[in-house]
Amino acid sequence: MRAAGFSIGQPIRLRLPSAMAESSAEPIASLYVHVPFCVRKCLYCAFYSEPSSGEQIDRYVGALIRELERVAADLRPRTIFFGGGTPSLLNLRQWEQLFHATERLPLSEVTEWTVECNPATLSLDKAKLLRSGGVNRVSLGVQSFDDTLLDRLGRVHSRQMAFDSFDILRQAGFGNVNLDLMFAIPGQTLEDWRGTLAEAVAMGSEHLSTYEVIYEEDTPLYEQLQAGKFDVDEDLACAMYEELVERAANAGFQQYEVANFARTDAIDYQPSTVEFPGRSCLHNINYWRGGAFYGLGPSATTYVRGVRTKNHSNTQLYCEQLEQGRRPLESREELAPLARAGETAAFGLRMVAGWPFEQFQQVTGYDLRREWAEDMNQLVEQGRGRLLPDRFQLTREGLRFADSAAQFFLR
Ligand SMILES: C[S@@+](CC[C@H](N)C(=O)[O-])C[C@H]1O[C@@H](n2cnc3c(N)ncnc32)[C@H](O)[C@@H]1O
Ligand code: SF4
Repeated sequence: MRAAGFSIGQPIRLRLPSAMAESSAEPIASLYVHVPFCVRKCLYCAFYSEPSSGEQIDRYVGALIRELERVAADLRPRTIFFGGGTPSLLNLRQWEQLFHATERLPLSEVTEWTVECNPATLSLDKAKLLRSGGVNRVSLGVQSFDDTLLDRLGRVHSRQMAFDSFDILRQAGFGNVNLDLMFAIPGQTLEDWRGTLAEAVAMGSEHLSTYEVIYEEDTPLYEQLQAGKFDVDEDLACAMYEELVERAANAGFQQYEVANFARTDAIDYQPSTVEFPGRSCLHNINYWRGGAFYGLGPSATTYVRGVRTKNHSNTQLYCEQLEQGRRPLESREELAPLARAGETAAFGLRMVAGWPFEQFQQVTGYDLRREWAEDMNQLVEQGRGRLLPDRFQLTREGLRFADSAAQFFLR
């Protein structure tokens, strides 16, 4: 998953709060790699990716390795996430090249290494190669088990291909698999959604990531909506979300974020905590908790020691810059500490556990109870927030509208 962002203000240069400054010498523990290629674009998707050609992917792999070399000395990853786009589109040779390059990193502390896969692009050989290269988690883009809705979304795979891919992953030894599912798809009924949920939980994956359709500008689905080809039914979307929360809980998943559900069985690398069930995505928890990360590849964002940079969303330009020995940066900004803390508050409140006050202060240098007392009280009065002795958290209603609750914290 990309590091989702709120709108960002003008760059301001300010000193870091002491809690951050102290940790500034630590190497960065989180690495995201963006693979900007897909078989073809889905009708709803605004992530930076494009249909590929073999040569272009080879050139990208070469440039990516150069970018990795530039930051390797400042990385000691605990989590790695290859997202996209469609990382599983890379062929075996390209994956071998990438694994060879990552050997330069200190990998001994990697506890979670995820690769996003599209069901149309997986073979047993590829899955086995990923597993033997150190990948231990796969996020599979299923979206729906209804072939008509898959067509409606412009997906390149069928429901059968999703089942086959899941079997392939299990055969290759993956014991930690996430399924991406979408709801509130135009034409989808509550019954359709119930059917997909039932089939998803029956598959027995360790994790579910769910996405209500977002109508992104400049996508064909957005244009269809603008042209009046269908209506958005907000009540139906709410009913689907309620159904999701109930069904997931009944099937033994623990909700730990607005749209993320994990099985509670602990795996050896992860301390079992009440806040995060055993199969939670550690990489994403780092984003939500305001942690630092390097993002490599076209359009990727990096957030290191209070500075946020973004790479060019243009694969050719990205490759050219790296081939000429330059950083492929499109933008750089340094947020004021309070603005940064506000973003961190907003992201972290997407987690069911909310923000423990002490932890928030350690991460940001600010006291949530002082800076945002009035905002938290308003959310409590609206029934969307809950103030506990050690933390603030959103209620079920607040989580459903987490994006609007977030606005209270952005400065
Ligand atoms: C970047 S994709 C990576 C997975 C892979 N490319 C695939 O689609 O099979 C991650 C997920 O984002 C979700 N997504 C992308 N665009 C979306 C949109 N406009 N609305 C809702 N979900 C979206 C999809 O569920 C997708 O699986
Ligand atoms: S949803 Fe996934 S497969 Fe579809 S265009 Fe976006 S990144 Fe590519």
